[in-house]
Amino acid sequence: MVLIDGKKVSGEIRNRLAEEVQELKKKTGKTPGLATVLVGDDPASAVYVRNKNKICGELGFQSFEQKLSSDTSEEKLLQLVEELNANKDIHGILVQLPLPDQIDSEKILQAIDPNKDVDGFHPINVGKLVVGNALLTPCTPTGIIELLDHYDIEISGKHAVIVGRSNIVGKPVSMLLLQRNATITICHSRTQNLEEVTRSADILVAAVGRANFVTEEMVSEGTVVIDVGINRVDGKLTGDVDFEPVSKKASYITPVPGGVGPMTIALLMENTLKAFKESL
Ligand code: GUN
Repeated sequence: MVLIDGKKVSGEIRNRLAEEVQELKKKTGKTPGLATVLVGDDPASAVYVRNKNKICGELGFQSFEQKLSSDTSEEKLLQLVEELNANKDIHGILVQLPLPDQIDSEKILQAIDPNKDVDGFHPINVGKLVVGNALLTPCTPTGIIELLDHYDIEISGKHAVIVGRSNIVGKPVSMLLLQRNATITICHSRTQNLEEVTRSADILVAAVGRANFVTEEMVSEGTVVIDVGINRVDGKLTGDVDFEPVSKKASYITPVPGGVGPMTIALLMENTLKAFKESL
């Protein structure tokens, strides 16, 4: 079994990005800027946003941190998004999800300038992803593809089974794998004979958000297992995969933490750099 080291791979990506930012700064006198918007005080979201801003600093990006109270109105948030859209120093906008109940997330995501949509969640970018010509694709799914590529894991012709159909991970990673000529199966809570389906996977992506959901009975010998879960169990970060027994069967597996997680931030920075270069 090979442990997929997302921490190491994401570090390499970040080093490459930092170098490119320096070169572009010399050439153009400009730096990429990322705005993060956090509404409310969900502790996990606050940690994510803090990490994003910290890495912005390390890579030479400008970060614009916007913190709004949990009772912020939809109108106020839309107004802020419009301001960020109009700001020429900002090339990427990330509104941390989930948003409080009084705000319609769809409306907010649609208000973000698609050219600054570094999450790849705007319907225009989702459409381009399906067609296969998107510049900005969702960060976690793109990070998964980069991990598979880094370890020279063949995607073409393989059966990729994705457990979970979220707009953030399940659906977009399916589209990216399909683009790379995998045969895809998307499983969800109504899937029948789930165990049978997951056992037929060459590549298994677990993105359900339930700790230890994927058990050893669901995995065949030699499967590549990608664990997207970030669950807190007794204060400890736990993936969607029951790691110990599954790792004995897998050919490759991502740990939690240190697998997919660090890739998400690296790809967010990569998307911001792409959006910046398009703006030049
Ligand atoms: N919440 C959980 N994952 C994500 C993500 O990738 N982007 C945003 N904006 N919010 C999230």
